[in-house]
Order: sequence, then C-alpha cells, then structure tokens
Amino acid sequence: MSHANSLLMQAHQRIRPHLFPGAIAIDATLGNGYDSLFLAQHIAPTGKLYGFDIQPAAILATQTRLQAAQLAELTELFSESHAQLAQLIPVSEHGKIQAIMFNLGYLPGAEKHLITQTASTLTALAASVNLLSTTGLLSILAYPGHPGGAEETQAVSDWIAQLPSTQFNCEVLLSTHPHATAPRLFLVEKLAENQLSAAA
Ligand SMILES: C[S@@+](CC[C@H](N)C(=O)[O-])C[C@H]1O[C@@H](n2cnc3c(N)ncnc32)[C@H](O)[C@@H]1O
Repeated sequence: MSHANSLLMQAHQRIRPHLFPGAIAIDATLGNGYDSLFLAQHIAPTGKLYGFDIQPAAILATQTRLQAAQLAELTELFSESHAQLAQLIPVSEHGKIQAIMFNLGYLPGAEKHLITQTASTLTALAASVNLLSTTGLLSILAYPGHPGGAEETQAVSDWIAQLPSTQFNCEVLLSTHPHATAPRLFLVEKLAENQLSAAA
C-alpha cells in the first residue's frame, strides 16, 4: 500500500467519529469520488454532502460513484474551485459542517496541470475553519513530492501553525517512512465550548 493510501485510511478513521446520520460534510477535492463515497455513507440517509472540483471529469466520476451507491440524492456537486466555498455553501449551514476533506495535488491519470494551487488552497482553508462546526474536523492530505507540492505543503503547515490553539486542536501525521517528499496528513479539530473551558 502506498504511503498516501495509508494516510488516506487514517484520515477516514479520524473523520468517522465526527460523522452521524444527518450531518453535513464537504469534499473539497472530488477527484474520483472515493472520499465523497466515504463521507456520504456515514451521513446517510438524511445528511448533506457538498463537493467541489474544477475538472468536469471529477464531477462525473463522483456522481457515477454516488449514484451506484444510491447516495446521489444527499449530494450537491459544484464544478467550481474550492476557493468559492464560503460563497457557495448556504449561509444557514456555516458553522455546522462536521467534516471537510482536502486531498491536494492532481487526479491520478488526469491532466497534471489541474493541480491544486497554494493561493486557492489557502483561501479555501480559511473559509473551512469558519464553516466547521465545533467538534468538526478538517483534514488535509498534502503531497510535497510533485512540482509546487513542497511549497503548498509548507504553506498549509504555516497556516495551521497560526491557528489559535485555544480554538483548534491541530496534528500532523507522517507516513510510516517519513522523508522530505512523503505525503503528510494535517488534522484540524474545532474545539467545543466545554473543551475550551477545560483547556483554559
Ligand atoms: C488528489 S485528487 C482528489 C482525490 C479524491 N479525493 C478521491 O477520493 O479520489 C485532487 C483533485 O483536486 C482537484 N482540484 C484542483 N484544484 C482545485 C480547486 N481549486 N478546487 C477544487 N478542486 C480542485 C483536481 O481536479 C483533482 O481532481
């Protein structure tokens, strides 16, 4: 199993306890739709999943996967950059999202220039922490190994470092054989009021 796959499994393991039937989740990078399927399965039958990707092929692949699992009705997919997160998620749901997943980089087998970009990734992450519910979890799987990836990973790491530790619990998980270009998983949990007073 590749390092990215084992970190992706860890992302799913860590997100699962934050999901429940009726919860709202966001897949910020649809790709082939595996993360969307995972999220939809754990918020069904009454939850809501929003998805974003700039590649029509990713929208189609995700739609097909969700339809096959009879979970398409829970979902609304946007053929837009995740930089539009704050504008496209209904205001009534801001602060109520239980899980937001980013799997950065490019879609294996597709156009490599359709890669996530540092500036739009950071815009989307800033929106995500506002959209997140208290007790919600944001996961970001980052790949320093491809061109532009090291810069993007460092920018994500720097952005996480400036989040107030009184409001967010942040972790970085490395692959089992960490090296400079190995993928890494960032987790950001928004703390609830009672966790805040316990930490004070
Ligand atoms: C590594 S893949 C995601 C894999 C996916 N989560 C899965 O389960 O198959 C990264 C995806 O991010 C998409 N992407 C790149 N820039 C984006 C942006 N600004 N907004 C939304 N998606 C973007 C790419 O088109 C690609 O499909």
